[in-house]
Amino acid sequence: MFYRNITWKGSYTKQMNNFLTDPRFAGIEPFKTKIWLSSPTMHGEEQRYVNDAIQTNWVSTVGENINVVERQFAEYIGCKYAVALSCGTAALHLATKLASEALYGQAQPNRGTLQGHRVFCSDVTFDASINPVAYEDGEAVFIDTEYDTWNMSPDALEKAFDLYPEVRLVVVAHLYGTPGKMAEIRNICKKHGALIVEDAAESLGAKYKLDGQWVETGTLGAYNAISFNGNKIITGSAGGMFLTDSKEDAEKVRKWSTQSREAAPWYQHEEIGYNYRMSNIIAGIIRGQIPYLEEHIGQKKAIWERYEKGLADLPVKMNPWDRENSIPNFWLSCMIIDEDAMAPMVRGEQDYLYRSESGKSSPQEILDAVTAFNAEGRPIWKPMHMQPIYRTSPFVTVEGNGRGRTNAYIKGSGVDVGADIFRRGLCLPSDNKMTPEQQNRIIEIIHRCFR
Ligand SMILES: Cc1ncc(COP(=O)(O)O)c(C=O)c1O
Repeated sequence: MFYRNITWKGSYTKQMNNFLTDPRFAGIEPFKTKIWLSSPTMHGEEQRYVNDAIQTNWVSTVGENINVVERQFAEYIGCKYAVALSCGTAALHLATKLASEALYGQAQPNRGTLQGHRVFCSDVTFDASINPVAYEDGEAVFIDTEYDTWNMSPDALEKAFDLYPEVRLVVVAHLYGTPGKMAEIRNICKKHGALIVEDAAESLGAKYKLDGQWVETGTLGAYNAISFNGNKIITGSAGGMFLTDSKEDAEKVRKWSTQSREAAPWYQHEEIGYNYRMSNIIAGIIRGQIPYLEEHIGQKKAIWERYEKGLADLPVKMNPWDRENSIPNFWLSCMIIDEDAMAPMVRGEQDYLYRSESGKSSPQEILDAVTAFNAEGRPIWKPMHMQPIYRTSPFVTVEGNGRGRTNAYIKGSGVDVGADIFRRGLCLPSDNKMTPEQQNRIIEIIHRCFR
């Protein structure tokens, strides 16, 4: 339920439909077919591999498509083993569990491997990155974000090790396909003897310069995961992969993902199992998509660059990246509004209010405008430390404890970079099938929001 028609301090928020009659938007036509944030792009071969699976009756969690995608991904990513799973979340769960077992040993079947342990986690990410910590009964400690890449802040991570020196596991995600500062993060983890679970779900195909060598995201942690969710840069409709150089870890993940059967003629179990293996049908779709990964990245990059150029005269900036040490896959194009160009906007838990002001705008106004013209944007992923479910979890910023950081009697409000990016930023329609003309219309709609 959104309050869009409420008078607020003598001004008003616009009803979504009113954008079409608002004189600021005169002359702009709504899109006849919806422009998506990021939708699947099929090329034809997917159908062939799915049909092959059906015709040969490999309609199961074994088959040629699975074998091929595992081989091709290991080659592409530059790791020894890729284990195909039902989704990225499954890959992250088993990655997290492997790390926890390596650190703390095997748990009782009714206990998580992280019981009694804290884990440092990216804060501005999708909750699937860090929910596995809770699945394993651990406590997430959220690490604030930095402005340079919108990813985990190495300085805040260093601070977190001051506060919680016992922590040995760090879950790092690359937001919107932009690699985080992995050299710094890896060094800090090495210094403190901590393992990294790398969530490369959004960044498949993004590159990072490590010790002078370009490597793929998905090779930067001790345990790594990618996703083929329907909105990702290539998709199987679903699916994910665990990536590793360790034969033992790959075999363990394969075993866990197929219900943890022991070597006995009957179903014999000595550890908890999961039904997490990829289907050969899903693998067929992914197999057909692999040849188009680079093409999709090129299209996404062109979209990012067109936005950058088209919005250059507005008081906004695009989502940034470290141009020296990384090449994003440009999965989602985002923008952030300069502080002094932010029109008033407040968000509740499920609703929001904003006011239009000449020369200014707000993420919710732009998102409403884009929606009214039949395109899809999205707020920045709401930081985990602000989520109701994790509101009692610790949060660490560059200044230290991020909870209770203001003082009624002392000036200054402390930093919370993630909350700031969430407040001022938004994800723009980034579908690789969007034409330059369609994108120009979206750019024009954004301009009109600032009128
Ligand atoms: C950062 C991040 N991690 C994990 C996931 C989970 O992947 P999946 O949907 O394949 O389970 C997603 C997306 O869905 C994601 O964006």
